[in-house]
Amino acid sequence: MPVISFASSKGGAGKTTSAIILGTELAEGTSVIMIDADPAQRLKRWASLSPAHPSLDVISSGGERSIQSEIDDAKSKAAFVLIDLEGSASRLTSFAISESDFVIIPSGEEQQDADAAIDTLAEIAMESRARRRPIPAAILLARTSAAVKSRLEKHIHSELKRAGRVFETELHRRTAFSSLHNAGGGLRQLDRSDVNGVDKAIANAQAFAAEVVELLEETQNA
Ligand SMILES: Nc1ncnc2c1ncn2[C@@H]1O[C@H](COP(=O)(O)OP(=O)(O)OP(=O)(O)O)[C@@H](O)[C@H]1O
Ligand SMILES: [Mg+2]
Repeated sequence: MPVISFASSKGGAGKTTSAIILGTELAEGTSVIMIDADPAQRLKRWASLSPAHPSLDVISSGGERSIQSEIDDAKSKAAFVLIDLEGSASRLTSFAISESDFVIIPSGEEQQDADAAIDTLAEIAMESRARRRPIPAAILLARTSAAVKSRLEKHIHSELKRAGRVFETELHRRTAFSSLHNAGGGLRQLDRSDVNGVDKAIANAQAFAAEVVELLEETQNA
């Protein structure tokens, strides 16, 4: 039922990858529909690489005229609806955000990413005012290093925390995550003789999915 969008005005922030990680993780336990609402169709491309997961469906959005009905339809069919958005503001992103119960904003640890994440928060706040309802959102640090944070990285973290909610869980930069785009499927389907660190990546993905569920419950009870 809940609709979760992945948004960021910065290209390459990690929207599609983070959506795949969450979608495949949630699909281990429940039904998920993912909507590819990016004209570049990277999510659809990923889905075409491997046989469909029994509880995960990936559909392509027909665009701004149909996104609202696509979301309604997906909500009636699946326990979670995830929407992968394009990396720039458009009527399509704005419609999808306005239909979302939660928006995840992936950001790296560079100033450009942080600026884009803060811009995206402002866009969501605008949408929320226009619709006269809260649209909860949180920043997800993605593509980060697992090493001790540098001063710049710490500075960026505190800037993001001042701007809005930030997930405790980070999705580190991991080969297992980026290789999903080549292999298709989820982390559990990766060939372990080919890809290192699959178990750590699964643990990272599980922590992320658990925190998403926790934040959703928190916002629904608020
Ligand atoms: N946690 C991660 N670990 C390793 N690589 C990552 C991670 N997140 C993203 N990447 C890589 O970074 C690149 C950009 O990621 P992705 O396509 O998810 O970003 P995006 O925000 O969807 O971009 P766009 O706006 O162009 O759609 C990809 O090559 C992807 O494999
Ligand atoms: Mg993308």
